[in-house]
Amino acid sequence: MITSAIVPVAGHGTRLLPATKSQPKEMLPVARKPIVQYVIEELVANGIANILLVTGRNKTSIENHFDSDPYLIQTLNTANKQDLLKELEFEDLGAHLYYTRQSEQRGLGDAVLCGESYAGEQPFVVALGDSIIGLHAESRCVAGMMELFEARRASCVIAVEEVAPEQTRHYGIIEGVDGDATWCRVRNLVEKPEPAEAPSNLAIAGRYIFSPTIFDMIRDVAPDARGEIQLTDAIQRMCDEGRRVLAYKLPPGERRYDIGNFPSYFETFVEFALADPDYGPGLREAIRRMLENS
Ligand code: UTP
Repeated sequence: MITSAIVPVAGHGTRLLPATKSQPKEMLPVARKPIVQYVIEELVANGIANILLVTGRNKTSIENHFDSDPYLIQTLNTANKQDLLKELEFEDLGAHLYYTRQSEQRGLGDAVLCGESYAGEQPFVVALGDSIIGLHAESRCVAGMMELFEARRASCVIAVEEVAPEQTRHYGIIEGVDGDATWCRVRNLVEKPEPAEAPSNLAIAGRYIFSPTIFDMIRDVAPDARGEIQLTDAIQRMCDEGRRVLAYKLPPGERRYDIGNFPSYFETFVEFALADPDYGPGLREAIRRMLENS
């Protein structure tokens, strides 16, 4: 049974500058909550009991967010704002959080390698700290991936999402064989192919399960032109060695919300805010007015 996850949150987030100059992109809000809170809540809801966050410089606000703050609680009590205490209930996650640091941002592969001694000999989930799966993170994707990993005795399971053909140039795309409507075997991974060269329209979607063999593969990967060790290169090595690398297709109705660039961040914010039970209807009206007047 898989009960551990690694959540890399150490990246620079340069595509979201200046918003990310002095705060982690994983702490940017989407509607009411910071992005990383959705990620952690999704993992816990899928049965993950231990989570290692790989942080870096300027990321202490992530630790502060998940730590309880007796002073804030006291302030709310004294100010007679007890109704707001429910907004802090997420601190009682029902999972253990651990932290380690990636001292230099040497790529996602390197960030995952920081979790080697934490993972030990057990398979584990990797969830990108800047990607939410499913509206309001109500997703069973990781649970489905775990079932596939165990049932097919895989070395790696990658979540994938169908994207429009003209979008392939923004994602890692898999070349899949066999399988059925819910999964397939991965033969190759291609980074950001032009639509004409893309082997499929199935894009890697920010959730992975690995056996500990991945660490040897990462160590074998040479840094790319920007000096980064790419996780996809390590997964490609697994494919080349004939290990069982499988893709799990996101179930119908579930989407990956990538927060790493402004167009996708803006869209995600609006979609989540529109779905807010209290403020969504009013926002819908306001947007309608804005569109009519524009
Ligand atoms: P990205 O690939 O979006 O990289 O990271 P980035 O550095 O954060 O962003 P840009 O390209 O400068 O805009 C995907 C996830 O992997 C983490 C990030 O924090 C993010 O959650 N990551 C990336 C690390 O933990 N370490 C790294 O060295 C790179």
